[in-house]
Amino acid sequence: MDHIAISPSDQVFVLTGAGISAESGLPTFRDSDGLWAGYRIEDVCTPDAWRRDPAEVWRFYSSRREAAQKAQPNPAHLALAELESQLPEQFFLCTQNVDDLHERAGSVNLLHMHGELAKSRCERECGRAPVEDRAVYRSLDEVPRCACGGRLRPHIVFFGETPLEMDRLQDKIAETTLMVVVGTSGSVYPAAGFVHRGRQRGARTVYVGPEEPLNASGFTHVVKGKAGEVLPGLFQVETAAEN
Ligand code: OAD
Repeated sequence: MDHIAISPSDQVFVLTGAGISAESGLPTFRDSDGLWAGYRIEDVCTPDAWRRDPAEVWRFYSSRREAAQKAQPNPAHLALAELESQLPEQFFLCTQNVDDLHERAGSVNLLHMHGELAKSRCERECGRAPVEDRAVYRSLDEVPRCACGGRLRPHIVFFGETPLEMDRLQDKIAETTLMVVVGTSGSVYPAAGFVHRGRQRGARTVYVGPEEPLNASGFTHVVKGKAGEVLPGLFQVETAAEN
C-alpha cells in the first residue's frame, strides 16, 4: 500500500501505542527489550501494587517520567500532527501512551485513554481533578498529599481499572470511516477491540508497525515498517475539487 487516500467525507480515527514512541528512544512494553521484560505488571501497574507498595509504583513511574522528559517527538508523531493540521475537523487521535510526545509534536484533538505521566491525582478518587506533576519522587515522603489528605498517585490507568473517557471514544469510533492503528501489539483490551468495532461499521482499517499485531484479522491493510519511516509519506489528502 503506497498511500492512504483521505477524502473530504472521511472521519479519521488514529489509535497509537508504545511502538510510535520507540524511535524516540522510549521502550515498548512487550518487545524483547520492553518494560515488561524488566518489571512485573503486578508489582507496578495494578491497584493491588499501589496498596501494597506505593513507593515501588512511584519509583517505576518516576523513571518513566525522566525518560519521557528526555525524549523528543519523532517523524511519526510529527506526521500525525501535520495530518491533523490539514484536516482539523476530520481527525481524532486516541493514544494508549502516557508520554506527551503527541502534544509536543503539535497534536491537538487527542485523548490519553491510559492516563498521562505528567499528571497525578488523589488515590482516594475524592473528585478533585488530576494535577500537572512532572516531579521525580525518590521516596514516599516526597509525594504530596491531596487537599483531602489522600496521597497523590500517578494519573495512570492501572490494569483492572477502566480506561478514560470510553463513552467519548465509542462515539468517535462509531463515526469513523478510516481507522489507522500504529505501533500497538493488540494485546490489551478494550483498545485492541477498537479495530473490530470500526470494521463492523464499514471503516477502512489500517495497521502500521514492523510486525503483525495479535488482532491483525481486523485490519483491511497491514503496512509493515517502522512508524517513523512509514507515516510521513502515507497519507494523501484529497481536496473537494479532486473528489
Ligand atoms: P506493546 O509493547 O504491547 O506493543 C508495541 C508494539 O509496537 C509491538 O507490536 C511492536 O511490533 C511495535 N513497534 C515496535 N517498534 C515500532 C516502530 N518503530 N514503529 C511502529 N511500531 C513499532 O505496547 P502497547 O500495545 O502500546 O498499558 O501496549 C498496550 C498497553 O499495555 C500500554 O498502554 C500499557 C501496556 O501495559 C498500561 O500501562 C495500562
